[in-house]
Amino acid sequence: MGKRLYLETFGCQMNVLDSELVMGQLCAQGYEPVGDRDQAEVILYNTCSVREHAEQKVWSRLGELRERKAREPGLVIAVIGCMAEREGLDLARRYPHVDILCGPGELDKLAGMVHNAIVTRLEERRPMAALLGNSTRRSGTLAAAESEDRLELLDLSRAVSDSESTRSAHVRITRGCNKFCTYCVVPNTRGPEVHRKPGNIIDEVRKLADAGVIEITLLGQTINHYLYDHGDGRKTTFADLLYQVHESAPSVSRLRFVTSFPRDFSDAALDAMRDCPRICRYLHVPAQHGSDRILRMMNRGYTAGQYRQFIERARQRMPDVSIASDFIVGFPSETDEDFQATMQLVRDCRFKNSFIFKYSPRPGTAAIERFADDVPEETKRRRNNLLLAEQQRVSEEGNRQMVGRTVEVMVEGKSKLVSRQLAAAGNNGDSSGGLVELGWKNRLVTRASEARTQLVGRTRGDQVVVYDGPESWTGRIMNVLVVDARNLTLFGEAAVAAVADQIS
Ligand code: SAH
Ligand code: SF4
Ligand code: F3S
Repeated sequence: MGKRLYLETFGCQMNVLDSELVMGQLCAQGYEPVGDRDQAEVILYNTCSVREHAEQKVWSRLGELRERKAREPGLVIAVIGCMAEREGLDLARRYPHVDILCGPGELDKLAGMVHNAIVTRLEERRPMAALLGNSTRRSGTLAAAESEDRLELLDLSRAVSDSESTRSAHVRITRGCNKFCTYCVVPNTRGPEVHRKPGNIIDEVRKLADAGVIEITLLGQTINHYLYDHGDGRKTTFADLLYQVHESAPSVSRLRFVTSFPRDFSDAALDAMRDCPRICRYLHVPAQHGSDRILRMMNRGYTAGQYRQFIERARQRMPDVSIASDFIVGFPSETDEDFQATMQLVRDCRFKNSFIFKYSPRPGTAAIERFADDVPEETKRRRNNLLLAEQQRVSEEGNRQMVGRTVEVMVEGKSKLVSRQLAAAGNNGDSSGGLVELGWKNRLVTRASEARTQLVGRTRGDQVVVYDGPESWTGRIMNVLVVDARNLTLFGEAAVAAVADQIS
């Protein structure tokens, strides 16, 4: 019987995808995934280094395992992902009970290393490491190209099953990043930017669509910079790729991409978003700051004015486009005036939401070398809260405009929020009733026996919608009438919309 395997993932969607690929590969080799770490014989952490806080969580997980490893020396512990790459062998020195280190650029080697750890006699077992820093960065482009081919095989080997959980999937189109924003570890941990072959991307999208996937998110750190040079004079731009993906998988009703970089977003790519009905009008395009001085220090390569122009350009073509951003507060030397410029940008751009982070100095980045982390923690916290409050005001205003409209929602499952309707009725959410269900092929099916619960789903613009319905609706796309709104959530009524559809 295969070894029991536990995997916990931190960080961004790239990491979530990497975990999925690694898990697919290990399961194909007979490992059995378990949800309880205590039951596992192999423990994997797929880690993130983007802020110190993300790393602290992993340090504490590893600390907890020290004692167990002393009791069970056969236990295999692997740290994979960005933190393995950034910390390198220092991590193994600090925590000698870690058996395997594997950076995001070497994940194709992981299964082999886990196997080796298991079969090697305990007294002969030594920590193993596969890191970009050991190969690509030292031996240059040739090694980079070779490592790319190996990684491509990992993406191509993706195990696709037609289970419910695969209604929504991510597909990578670029790896790595070349931007070197001064605060950011990603170019160090993920290596140089590489663009996947359009044919491979399309094949993967088709494979997922054939397995029943109806929502695909394309992934890249600066995704709009995608450009594939075929080497024979032909080039595939990001806009070309969007059209090709859209055409090649008509059953995928929601196609998204993240994350966009505010510069070099072509009109052609915006036109593709406008003209392809199944591409969601959603952009995640982090501004990071509203002050030109700070943007320069961050090496972002645009001004706040240029950022605004991009937002305007997108909204001119698609007045209904939903835009999300990221911001860093407390970047070195940030004054109140700089911060107010960020507040103003949030007010002016009317973001659907913003992810707001306190600056965290990261080893190996230019910012930590060049600039003192001189904004006191208390000020960072205060600015974080002020910006959050401003964004919440903007979000609530945007959401309120949705009340009374019918939106298309893809159901993600049971909500953790208490549905307002049920709460108001003093109901615990488990009532049952004659429900009208909008079935796969827009057939209306009545199921009297199913328990109602609070569901959560997302609109095409990535707004969160909560409403009542049976859990069996998970994975479906349906119309929901928005009846109320808060800053983070729209509250809806599905049955009303479904009945209305039936009548019309
Ligand atoms: N490629 C994306 C961002 C990837 S990292 C882009 O360029 O937009 C995700 C977010 O983490 C960033 O947008 C940034 O807001 C935040 N971030 C990155 N490094 C950080 C640091 N050192 N301190 C605080 N936030 C950081
Ligand atoms: Fe980091 Fe900048 Fe690259 Fe985004 S674009 S991953 S913030 S270096
Ligand atoms: Fe974190 Fe690496 Fe993603 S540092 S944000 S997991 S690319």
